[in-house]
Amino acid sequence: MKAIQYKDYGSSAVIELVDIPIPSIQSKKDILIQVKAAGVNPIDVKIRMGIMKEMRPVEIPFIPGGEASGIIVAIGTDVSKFKVGDEVIALTKKNAYAQYVTANENYVLLKPKNLTFQEAASIAVTIGTSQSVLFTEGKLEKGQKVLIQGGAGAVGGAMIQMAKAAGAYVIATASGDGVALAKSLGADEVIDYKLQDVTNTVKEVDLVADTAGGQSQEKLFPVLKADGKLLSIAKPPSQELAEKHKVKAYFVASDISSKTLQNGLELIEAGKFQTVVSKIFKLEAAAIAQDFLTAGGVNGKIVFAVE
Ligand SMILES: NC(=O)c1ccc[n+]([C@@H]2O[C@H](COP(=O)([O-])OP(=O)(O)OC[C@H]3O[C@@H](n4cnc5c(N)ncnc54)[C@H](OP(=O)(O)O)[C@@H]3O)[C@@H](O)[C@H]2O)c1
Repeated sequence: MKAIQYKDYGSSAVIELVDIPIPSIQSKKDILIQVKAAGVNPIDVKIRMGIMKEMRPVEIPFIPGGEASGIIVAIGTDVSKFKVGDEVIALTKKNAYAQYVTANENYVLLKPKNLTFQEAASIAVTIGTSQSVLFTEGKLEKGQKVLIQGGAGAVGGAMIQMAKAAGAYVIATASGDGVALAKSLGADEVIDYKLQDVTNTVKEVDLVADTAGGQSQEKLFPVLKADGKLLSIAKPPSQELAEKHKVKAYFVASDISSKTLQNGLELIEAGKFQTVVSKIFKLEAAAIAQDFLTAGGVNGKIVFAVE
């Protein structure tokens, strides 16, 4: 089968297209999936660059890819929830940049019928992360005010929609064409972060969800109410600033599981969630796809169409 792999950390130049055997089912609960599409996530780039070596060491050669959609072609003897031919999404953590991937049945879900394979490959990380930040950790409630930093990004766009569906008042930051996208996804207010300073524009927010990290994170503390929360998926927030502004602030590592995906999947199946696939690449163009993501301004999610 065709797969993307690398044998060393580094720039996208380390990425190679290889022809390797189709993986075999290793455990009785494993499922073999013919991949139709795979999601491209910033963590794929961070792992490749070696900046996650401590947190996420990988075995070399490494096949990237944490989420896929496809068709089940074989199942282990103890698989009870699925059958050959089912159209599914898989939460794989690795190996999804390939024509075939295996996953334990507990990390496989039926593909929402109203999504294409490419749309379905774009949702697991975004809705699972949004659920972890907004609700598991953020305890966001109806009527509360949330600021989403990076509202036109893959995760930020899902956050806007899930926060709105929960009845929150949503303020998002974005830039360029992302402003219109964030509005179309339901944000009540959108601030173009390249033209306006969020610190001077927004006040008394219950929750800040930061998907951008970087220096811009410092500007997010003053917009919170006393006792509000700043949760970041991109960078651990300063505890000194948290104390100064009398707020809680911490990094959230998302829990991407069938449990955390449930709320988002219900919205998708009810037609209340718009998937935003902004660019589709062939697997062969993996290096270009990752560089495209790194360059920024993507506005939505990048996926591979796998043939
Ligand atoms: N902790 C976890 O478990 C977890 C889970 C998922 C993702 N992540 C991380 O979360 C981050 C976002 O992921 P993603 O897939 O949503 O990436 P993405 O699609 O690239 O989105 C990032 C967004 O941040 C925006 N942005 C950049 N600089 C900004 C600034 N100064 N102010 C406001 N917005 C700014 C970008 O907007 P422009 O394009 O307009 O610059 C873009 O829309 C990545 O670092 C990823 O690794 C972490």
